[in-house]
Amino acid sequence: MAEPLIELRHIYKIYKMGDEEVRANDDISLSVERGEFVAIVGKSGSGKSTLMNIIGALDVATSGEYILGGEDVGEMSDDQLAEIRNKMIGFVFQQYNLLPKLDLLENVELPLLYAGVSAAERKERALEALRRVGLEEKWKNLPNQLSGGQQQRVSIARALAGSPSLILADEPTGALDSRTSREVLDFFKKLNEEGNTIIIITHDNSIALEARRVVRIHDGKINFDGDVKDYAAIL
Ligand SMILES: Nc1ncnc2c1ncn2[C@@H]1O[C@H](COP(=O)(O)OP(=O)(O)OP(=O)(O)O)[C@@H](O)[C@H]1O
Ligand SMILES: [Mg+2]
Repeated sequence: MAEPLIELRHIYKIYKMGDEEVRANDDISLSVERGEFVAIVGKSGSGKSTLMNIIGALDVATSGEYILGGEDVGEMSDDQLAEIRNKMIGFVFQQYNLLPKLDLLENVELPLLYAGVSAAERKERALEALRRVGLEEKWKNLPNQLSGGQQQRVSIARALAGSPSLILADEPTGALDSRTSREVLDFFKKLNEEGNTIIIITHDNSIALEARRVVRIHDGKINFDGDVKDYAAIL
């Protein structure tokens, strides 16, 4: 069997606040294969974003082992972490984080600029990513000329432009109405059908039910990990 894309072994993330300690992630072991579509669910404060930040190499665990694409993330320098984020991971957040003074094309090009991609290739890849989210003809628009759902699709295009192995989305539909959420979700499903590995955090069960696998976090621990059908059965 091929090695998993993500392998977390006994991950702890502990914050010390004076004498108190918060176990934001409390012995999490998880592996994700290439091509999976995983929803991470759980109450507010349960540790979902903490876990996502570790998976996305935005933060490092207090202890435990993390192997991403066969490489030990715990052994990496800050530069190596930045490089792996640039090359392997596309991020989508609840707030779209689009820069208001840049047009859509420039927004989508930005991570490619940081990755040192040439101007011509940046434009080509950014236009292709905008085409995939159905917004190619709006490339000259500014973000505030778009609806919320369209802005989120631009942020997805920005994540896709780097051809990431993994797409991480933290509450990507949190700021959207239910119809627009559905559109964005359908888009993630399409990306998954095309072979992308997707991990999406949500506290909305109706969104989680669209994934194939659900991981539920409670007080920093995984208390359900399985097929979405089994998850639906216990709701
Ligand atoms: N930088 C930090 N310093 C101290 N405690 C933190 C820090 N970041 C997170 N925590 C704590 O860790 C726990 C998990 O937080 P986390 O943001 O992972 O929750 P979450 O599941 O994403 O919640 P939400 O659904 O509200 O986004 C919380 O108790 C939070 O207060
Ligand atoms: Mg969160």
